[in-house]
Amino acid sequence: MKFPIYRPRRLRRNAMLRDLVRETALSPKDFIYPLFVCPGKDRADPVSSMPGVAQLSVDRVVKECREVQALGIPGVILFGIPEHKDPLGSEAYSESGVVQKAVREIKEKVPGLLVVTDVCLCEYTDHGHCGVVKGGEVDNDSTLELLAKEALSHALSGADIIAPSDMMDGRVGAIRKILDESGFKDVAIMAYAAKYASGFYGPFREAAESTPQFGDRLSYQMDPGNADEALREVELDIQEGADIVMVKPAMAFLDIVYRVKQKFGFPVAAYSVSGEYSMIKAAGKNGWIEEQRIVMEVLLCIKRAGADMILTYFAKEVARKLQGR
Ligand code: PBG
Repeated sequence: MKFPIYRPRRLRRNAMLRDLVRETALSPKDFIYPLFVCPGKDRADPVSSMPGVAQLSVDRVVKECREVQALGIPGVILFGIPEHKDPLGSEAYSESGVVQKAVREIKEKVPGLLVVTDVCLCEYTDHGHCGVVKGGEVDNDSTLELLAKEALSHALSGADIIAPSDMMDGRVGAIRKILDESGFKDVAIMAYAAKYASGFYGPFREAAESTPQFGDRLSYQMDPGNADEALREVELDIQEGADIVMVKPAMAFLDIVYRVKQKFGFPVAAYSVSGEYSMIKAAGKNGWIEEQRIVMEVLLCIKRAGADMILTYFAKEVARKLQGR
């Protein structure tokens, strides 16, 4: 390849040529849309740090799911905001929990839409940690039992994919085991495999009311300085039975997305998290950036890095744009 024989600009001359040679393109089928389920009826309480995002009661979640399906988005991921919190997060694994109710309703009223459920304790515990607290620390092994119970209750409600986000060691294996023993061998696991202790989760913690009441999550989520460790985490989760492995956050962690895809060739999910959404929304609102353009660019680049699917709060607006609406 040598100039002037090769002139890369030849294929950039017009939109048709560019369309013809574009290597990566976004589709509504790439997305999973996160929803926050709260108790009550006909409720939509806006999350102030995430414009366009609200905590929704089950009936409103169902309405939202119909819209998601009409836009060609294959699935949603549900987070629950319980009625009451306690030290063991008991609403996380209660048959009458908000997520369990929402899954049953969606499965009945919006058949065909994939329902992914986030499995974690932080939204359900009064201390806001992702596991059982013993002597001021998050105890790994006693947490596994509760996470397995939570996963099973989601599967019993009809969830298609279980997504553990707690970062306890061994949780994928514990969940696979209980699902298999209970007749749910076909329920898939999307493991938050390389989940970093990130400042980008700030707005989510308002949305899910899951801010830790003491300390931080550094003893269980990954150090942003580590990449080799992410590969070990992913390998562990695959060995324990993960069907899809997730990297989270996305935008500042694309090297991890790339390396995970290259090394394992497994389906990779990238979670473009709340802080990524809120930053773009805020700058867009101020007129500092072209919001729509940047959203498309960021999501496209996440896919180019190797993600097969993207969990994003932008899913609906991008799907609308892609459909030319
Ligand atoms: C629960 C969980 C978190 C997110 C997804 N699942 C928050 C956290 O770990 O503190 C973050 C998602 C987002 O920021 O959009 N453990």
